[in-house]
Amino acid sequence: MRPGQPILQYVDRPGLLDLGWGHPHPSLLPTDAWAAATTGALSTYGWQALTYGYEPGPGPLREWIAGHLNATDGGGEPDEIFVTAGASHALTLVCGALARPDDVVLVDSPTYHLAFGILRDQGVELVAAPVDGGGLDPRALDEQIVALRRQGRRVPLLYIVPTFGNPTGHSLPDDRRRELVAVARREKVTIVEDDTYRDMVYEGGAPPSLWQLSDGQSVVRIGSFAKTVAPGIRLGWIQAAPDLVGRLARLGYVHSGGGVNHTTALAMAAFGASGAYRDHLTIIRREYATRRDTLVAALRRLPIRLDVPSPAGGWFVWLPLPAGRSAAEVLATAEEHGVSFMPGSTFHVTGADDDHIRLSFSLLAPVELDEAARRLGVALAETL
Ligand SMILES: Cc1ncc(COP(=O)(O)O)c(C=O)c1O
Repeated sequence: MRPGQPILQYVDRPGLLDLGWGHPHPSLLPTDAWAAATTGALSTYGWQALTYGYEPGPGPLREWIAGHLNATDGGGEPDEIFVTAGASHALTLVCGALARPDDVVLVDSPTYHLAFGILRDQGVELVAAPVDGGGLDPRALDEQIVALRRQGRRVPLLYIVPTFGNPTGHSLPDDRRRELVAVARREKVTIVEDDTYRDMVYEGGAPPSLWQLSDGQSVVRIGSFAKTVAPGIRLGWIQAAPDLVGRLARLGYVHSGGGVNHTTALAMAAFGASGAYRDHLTIIRREYATRRDTLVAALRRLPIRLDVPSPAGGWFVWLPLPAGRSAAEVLATAEEHGVSFMPGSTFHVTGADDDHIRLSFSLLAPVELDEAARRLGVALAETL
């Protein structure tokens, strides 16, 4: 390798405390436990860990994921699981299987902004689903689907992160979950439930998944080990009716190369079976809760009055700006003061919303979060 070739996606901006990245803190990546899992998988499975894998994913990981979903949510069978290279890959596969170019794919607002690019890669048109103060509005959604179909549009999919969502940290209320599932069933729209943050819960439990409420009809659930283990392993899963799992397993590139990320999948199976996943989750939940509390407390202490939510899960504080401030202007001033974040408009497919900012508390240490909040307070006071 030539010297100086990058290794990481992260770009360091010296002097800047960047609350924009949804990346893990380096000290919270399980380097030693993952090394042990890799060694364990190689000694348990030997050469089988290094050859072409079973197309939907190796049995030990499919069984472990199904068992884990059963224990934490309810409803999970190994033949419903397709192992992927992370949630992003899962979304690509589901969209590719269920939508055609020029179809409408509905997306929640605000929602995970990088899903927009993943979905657009498949040639679909993204349309914002209707929302109100409580999140996605199932009744208005029903009307929207009917209206789009009257215009001759196909509407096969809806994308949503209903549990500890990125960027809000909010979860869709229970009654809306049930209504949403009923609308999807009635209108024959498949909900793609991105459940990436289910295990990243700090207080109480996570709400029941849409998958569970729907008995697996009209919902495909996707998940990831990027937040709970490590993004670099690029490992995740799809939970879907077994016939869709079978379709994905017959895709040309899966047939050609075998199960996706097979060696890493077996290492994950060992990481899960040994109890390392459970132990690691206990540590990172505590550490990320501390980071959340540090950021929230520092923001609440600022002389400027802010309405600071404390999310029960996930990695983000979705901060409403005080009246009269625009996120774009605050961002420019904040960067002059050595702090950065993501403006709210990033998370809307329409680009609307200059009133919120997303602050990620995953990447910085508590002392840095404290200082970042102080700098943000200075920038907010200056931006009127
Ligand atoms: C809601 C959501 N889905 C998916 C991803 C990406 O997951 P992966 O790294 O497994 O592709 C993220 C990462 O930030 C996310 O926040």
